[in-house]
Order: sequence, then structure tokens, then C-alpha cells
Amino acid sequence: MYPEYMKESLNKVAQTRNKRFELAKSGKPVYPPMSAEEREKVLNKFHPDYKPEARRKIRIGPNKGEHLTTEVADMLESHSRIKTELFDLTRPDYETDILIIGGGGGGCAAAIIAKQNGAKSIISTKLRLGDANSMMSQGGMQAAVKPQDSPTLHYLDAIGGGHFDNKPELVRALTEDGPDIVKWLEELGVVWDKDEEGSMQVLHGGGTSRKRMHSCRDYTGAIIMRTLMDEVRNHPDKITVLEFMPTVELVLDNKGRCAGGILYNLETEEYFTVKAKATIIATGGYGRLHIRGYDTTNHYGATGDGLVIAYRAGAKLLYMDSVQYHPTGSIFPEQIAGFLITEKIRGAGGQPVNKHGELFVFPREPRDVESSAFIKECLEKKNGIETPSGRLGIWLDSPLIEMLQGEGYINKQFPAMHRQFIRYEIDITKEPMLVYPSLHYQNGGVEINAKCETNIPGLYVVGEASGGAHGRNRLMGNSVLDYNVFGRRAGEYAAKYAKSVKLGRLSLKHVHNYENELKKTKIKTDRIAPVLLPFYTPEDVRKRQLTAHYEGTLR
Ligand code: FUM
Repeated sequence: MYPEYMKESLNKVAQTRNKRFELAKSGKPVYPPMSAEEREKVLNKFHPDYKPEARRKIRIGPNKGEHLTTEVADMLESHSRIKTELFDLTRPDYETDILIIGGGGGGCAAAIIAKQNGAKSIISTKLRLGDANSMMSQGGMQAAVKPQDSPTLHYLDAIGGGHFDNKPELVRALTEDGPDIVKWLEELGVVWDKDEEGSMQVLHGGGTSRKRMHSCRDYTGAIIMRTLMDEVRNHPDKITVLEFMPTVELVLDNKGRCAGGILYNLETEEYFTVKAKATIIATGGYGRLHIRGYDTTNHYGATGDGLVIAYRAGAKLLYMDSVQYHPTGSIFPEQIAGFLITEKIRGAGGQPVNKHGELFVFPREPRDVESSAFIKECLEKKNGIETPSGRLGIWLDSPLIEMLQGEGYINKQFPAMHRQFIRYEIDITKEPMLVYPSLHYQNGGVEINAKCETNIPGLYVVGEASGGAHGRNRLMGNSVLDYNVFGRRAGEYAAKYAKSVKLGRLSLKHVHNYENELKKTKIKTDRIAPVLLPFYTPEDVRKRQLTAHYEGTLR
């Protein structure tokens, strides 16, 4: 239930709703989209990435001298969890064709396709299989399947949204494989939303020129993930799943090829060695680092583990200066601060409005631009709505959707969201939600090519842990597509590679060398990474609140 003092502003939203409805119904633009210059201006002034302290030079490793997101540079300039001299790599605990690190969508897709290509794999996953952002995605997956659309248009949208920094070969793979992924997932058991005639239901997302968002209500990720997990679990002879067993270092051979990893059992606190002909990192991103003190939409395990182990082994990173903030994270009630409010709400006609009930931005700008406009409206224009704990927010007018799409639409299309808010006595068919940008996605990652290969032979990376496909700003629905496209590709190419490679002597020398580099550079730190679990000690929370306060997101 909203507090009494918000009622005046809520009434203003209700008063302007009819006029906004008439305009939206007329088919005319509800608000003019920004020009390229306007976008640049709002990004430069308000996007959290553009603050001078948001980035700093990293002093060691393959990207030495480059500016990375400050929290990422801090995480990479760290000590290993292991003492290398304690490991006898001549007698590994497990041997397999492929070690897959991460039990989310990318890892599962890779294992399924590796199996089809004759390879056995081990999935090392920090929590349970499926405990991943893939499970949490709500809005959907982009793929150009309709006659008025094409992979070329999808390509142009993705490149434009990414500020033309995307790696073209990756965008091409992403968009060209899209239609096949829709079919593959349906054959595996995914039940896509369809219209009464049985055609795929598609919606717009921010920055899309055509409707191409495929969904399963507002729990698309859960449906896809459960389908992939079933397929993985159906083949225990070919796919071994080791749960609560994160990989904390990679192992190389004496020729510098990736040859497996060191796993850590979170329950018994024992280490295990895995020798593998090829290794696929599918660990997802770093949302739980709470960059710049922001709340996050991410699952508990998103602590950037894959980045750390790949970097220590010598893998090159790309665009690690670029963070995605989802415009509509929940900001009230406090219990669900940061929680994702899917972009599909705006795709269906929901509008962001300020405390006066005014629409102040085109509702479907690319995410970085939309987020920056929200921050501007709150911090510069002072038109945000303050929560009891001093956070600021923007109304996301969901009742408008019921007027535009018909009564009952919200309950049908957004059942999870509807229930979520009912728990707090807010009926989103009648009252808007209060939102603010929330840390959502790691735009950059380990540099790969269209076969998911890295600069380390035998090391493949997929999904959010990789960088390049989305440039410096990913569009909605392209990450679900990404982990499927590149998960499948990695499974195929790693399986082919595993058939021919003959590994040499296994080694952890790179870990030792990295430690020496830290010493030589006189970097003094007590940080150990991968961090594995996020920090929520009272000191950490206080530190984060101070940053958030400084950023202006907390009063
Ligand atoms: O808004 C959303 O439903 C999020 C989707 C995505 O990040 O792709």
C-alpha cells in the first residue's frame, strides 16, 4: 500500500491518464523520441558510467592500462583463493571432454549441443542448476520471425542500441541464429505466447524497429530454463552436474591451452581438480557487485567469477567500462528494491510519468538513454517521488495498459508481477508502480569470436560473461537470445575441438605469475576473488549506501 503522502501525486497520475490514453490510442507518437544529440547529452550528464570516478585504469593483466569500471578493476586486482603448490595436477579428480562453468541457460544449452556432437561434459555450478539470471528473465527473447521483420533489421537495431561498438560477427551470429532458436526451444518444450490463430505473439522492446519479442507471459526465463534443465537432467550418462561446486581457477597446459579447472565444494570446503580437453565459461555477470551503490535485478550468485578466472589465465576483456542499468527496477516497497519490472510493461503501453503525472520521455528509448532520462527527471528536474527511506522514483503507469489492451490484460500477460505487488497491497491494474534504474547487465566481458573462442586455445565463453555482441548497451530480449545462440555454438565448437586436442602437462603457473605481477606492481590488497558470494555485512551495506547517497539516488 502506498503511504498517504503519495496520494496527491497518485491522483495527478490518474487525472492525466485519460488524455495520455487518447493520444496513445490515436496511434500518434506519445512523446517524441530523442535525436542522437539529445541522447548523447543526457547520457553524458546523467548515466552512472559517465561519472569520472566510475572508471579507473587497471594496473595488471591483459587489459593493463585500460579504463575499466572501478569495481571491476578492484575485483580483478586480487589474490587467488588457492595455494597453487597444494595441487597435484598429474592425478585429476575428474576427467572429461568439456568442463562447463555455470549452470544457467548458456551452460545448459552448451551441454545439450556438446552431447549431440559426441562430447561428455561436466557442469560446475556455484549454486543449484538453474540458479541464474536466465531463470529470472521476464520480458522475452528477440528473434526476427515475422514477414515484416528480418535478421538484418534486428542486426541494425542491436548495433544502433549498442552505440555501433558491437562486434559485427557476433551480432550477425546472434540475429541470424534467432529464428532457429525459437524453433529449437519450441521443439524442446517451450510454450511461447501465441494469438488466437496460433501465430507467435510478438511485442516491441526499447530500441526495436519491429515487434519481435517472444515471451511466455512474464516468466519467460523460468519456462526456458526449466526446459533446458530437463534436457540436461535427461542425459546423466553424458552430462554430469556438480552443484555447489564453483570453479575458482582455470588450469592451463604447458602450451598455454585451457585444460580444465579447480573446483571448490562450498559445503565440504574441499578442492577438486578437473582435466578437460575444452572449457566453456558460462558464469553470467557481476550484478551483485552493486556498482555505484545501485540496487540490482540480478540473482544472488552474479559476482563476476568467470571474468576473474579468465583474466588471471590471460583472456582479453572487451568493453569492461560499460554497465547496464535497467530503467525500471522497483523502488517501493523496500523489500523488493531493485526487483525487475519488465520492459514488456512499456512494450504493452505502460508509461513513465513524473510526480505531476506528466510523461517526460519516449517510453521505449534504449535502456541507457531511458535510465538517464529517469535520473535527470529525479535529480535535476526534482520531479521524482520520494519513498519513506529517502529513495527517489518515477511512476510507471500500468493501469493505462488495461485501458489500451482491455480489462484483464495485466493478469493474463503479467501474472507474476501482478501477484508480486498484490502481496504488498498494491494492485497494478489500478495503481502505478514506483521505479528507478537498477543494475541489470554487464555489457562487456571476455572477448570472443562467433565460435565463442577466446585468445586462449580451448577456452570458450558464452552469455553475459562474454563481451562484444551488445556493444555498450544491450537491447531487451537479446540476452536470452545470446545465451541460447552462443551456448549452442560453444557446445558445438568445443566438442569438435575436444576430438582433436592432445593436452600436455597441466599447470597453474599463470596463477603464480599473476600473484607475482601484483607484487611487482606493488598493489596492496586483501581482496580474494572470485568472491563467489556477495557481501552484505553491515559495513558493506553502509559503504554502498554512501555511494548511492553521493550519486543522488538516496536522500
Ligand atoms: O525487461 C525485461 O524483461 C528484461 C529483459 C532483458 O534484459 O532482456
